[in-house]
Amino acid sequence: MATLKFFGHACFELAEKNTSLIFDPFFSGNTWNIAAASDVNPNYLLISHGHADHLGDGLDIAKRTNATTVSTFEIASLFSNENYPAHPMHIGGKYDFDFGWVKIIAAFHGAGVPGGHACGFLVNFFGKVIYFAGDTSLFGDMALIGKTAKVDYALLPIGDNFTMGPEDAKEAAKLINPKVVIPMHYSTWPPITQSPEDFKASVEKETSIAVKIVAPGEKIEL
Ligand code: NI
Ligand code: MN
Repeated sequence: MATLKFFGHACFELAEKNTSLIFDPFFSGNTWNIAAASDVNPNYLLISHGHADHLGDGLDIAKRTNATTVSTFEIASLFSNENYPAHPMHIGGKYDFDFGWVKIIAAFHGAGVPGGHACGFLVNFFGKVIYFAGDTSLFGDMALIGKTAKVDYALLPIGDNFTMGPEDAKEAAKLINPKVVIPMHYSTWPPITQSPEDFKASVEKETSIAVKIVAPGEKIEL
């Protein structure tokens, strides 16, 4: 059974048996204070962009664990330049790994590295399809994600200010039409303070999509 653990902000771990995959490994400075970077032992790091709250402790974790970083070419190069394992991809590209596949999805946001582009990830993890949006605005082509894949879990930012807020995330949910939405990227700092409970009530009133609030520190079965 695959599990998903939330470390607060946009940091999640997908795990099954001996495979661990961490999205946006932001531990040091993460005000949710769920775990230290030294507590995790991933096989894969999926990093959406170079901002400090996403690239996070990635380089330190890669150095210690030899995890393979899967990201855009520009972010992957930060790792391969240090001789850490990296699998460079780019927007629109899909590749098979031992746990399933990864497709890199566009995200409208700063890259955090010269010449790059922020991204999201569509991941098939042992048969469960997870869309991790990264930091992004709402965009109409999210409808194509729902058209080309049956998304089980959509991890969407609701914090506003730097990304979509709750109203736009609700529209994103309608476009993607996943079974379940999990809110992220909120209440780490004052400018992105939001109520995931209000978001859940609003989405569930207007759609048949379930919103699962995963509390920081909580692990759920997928
Ligand atoms: Ni960012
Ligand atoms: Mn961010």
